[in-house]
Amino acid sequence: MKILVIGSGGREHAILWKLSQSPRVTQLLCAPGNAGTQQIATNHPVAASDLPALLALAKSEAVDLTIVGPDDPLAEGIVDLFQSEGLRIFGPRAAAARLESSKSFAKGFMDRHGIPTAASSTFSELEDALVHCRTASYPLVVKADGLALGKGVVIAQNQTEAETVIQQMMVDKIFGDAGATVVVEDFLTGPECSLHALVDGAKYLLFPDARDHKRALDGDLGPNTGGMGTISPSRVLDAAMQERVRNEILEPFVAGLKVDGLQFQGMLFPGLMITPQGPKVLEFNCRFGDPETQVLMRRLKSDLLDLIEATIDGRLSEVHPIWDDRTAVCIVLASGGYPGLIEKGKVISGLESVGTDPDVEVFHAGTAWKEGKFVTNGGRVLGITALGSTLEEARIKAYAVADQINFEGKQLRRDIGA
Ligand code: AMP
Ligand code: GLY
Repeated sequence: MKILVIGSGGREHAILWKLSQSPRVTQLLCAPGNAGTQQIATNHPVAASDLPALLALAKSEAVDLTIVGPDDPLAEGIVDLFQSEGLRIFGPRAAAARLESSKSFAKGFMDRHGIPTAASSTFSELEDALVHCRTASYPLVVKADGLALGKGVVIAQNQTEAETVIQQMMVDKIFGDAGATVVVEDFLTGPECSLHALVDGAKYLLFPDARDHKRALDGDLGPNTGGMGTISPSRVLDAAMQERVRNEILEPFVAGLKVDGLQFQGMLFPGLMITPQGPKVLEFNCRFGDPETQVLMRRLKSDLLDLIEATIDGRLSEVHPIWDDRTAVCIVLASGGYPGLIEKGKVISGLESVGTDPDVEVFHAGTAWKEGKFVTNGGRVLGITALGSTLEEARIKAYAVADQINFEGKQLRRDIGA
């Protein structure tokens, strides 16, 4: 089978790495890809946002199946487009992808179907939002309604901060149209975890839990990023809490899709907070997480292609994946300045001398191959992913390799999973 993966991050490299182990895969393509995907797939220089060009590529290459990595093409309707042309593709249609691309839509869905989440109000008029701030209790969470590269959530400590950020989003348009509407919600407390579940429209298949480290600096300081490292299992979901998550979140989610007539054959990735009252949804993502996918693919022992196909065909009840019960850790090496302005093109050294430990895999993200060298090409550069029989063993292995690889400005957190 010939498979096209759309995207260029560590998530896409990890998905391709896993697919490359499938006996049923004959050829892998990636658009646009990175220097790591190039080693196991044919990269095509087509942007993940260029839907017509992606369609043309899938047709001209006679691709059998397309897997979408990032959120934007899903929100733009790539699944609807490919399906209307008779092509096989993994992911929710645009109407269902709104669960990620519109926070107010997701809030409405959760309220309609009784899924626990923070109490919220949605505003598209500045004056109404400001009036709300006068009587709200603080801290208060202000969210841009649309996709904002993971930067659209601000925790306001007082009324002044809330008013400022609402002005920035709604009037100054710092997130463009994504901030024209804002969702204002109660501040919750508790440990967070990343859940992944394949959803075939009627059933779901829960993956092991993972935990992201979103802040840029050690000790959860600094600005929010796309994710600086992950562990799986998360160590915040015990069996009883997992049962609650199934009953209170996943069951009502798939039931709600049916009631609302939403077509979702893809990956659901809810961000959860385990509050004193139980699990609550902070946000829905409608795709694989990055860098959650890196640890999940390391732990998946079964064929990913079987799971993807069962999802598309509505046969999830027939597949029973096997997971490595060891712990996986992914350490992200980022460019200096990330998540702010970064410089690209720094030569990456040490990749060639990384050992051959089968438990350690280096997934590429923002990398390129230039004049015979690996160079940096984005904010998050590499994800060093290791398995260990204990969390500590996995951390030691991952950090040992992370320390062998260098580039100017290299930035990493030392406390992933600590
Ligand atoms: P999101 O993009 O919605 O996942 O939000 C990004 C981060 O903001 C989350 O990982 C949480 O740390 C924080 N956050 C979001 N919503 C809330 C909330 N209602 N209460 C407390 N923290 C939140
Ligand atoms: N690591 C968080 C995300 O993929 O959204």
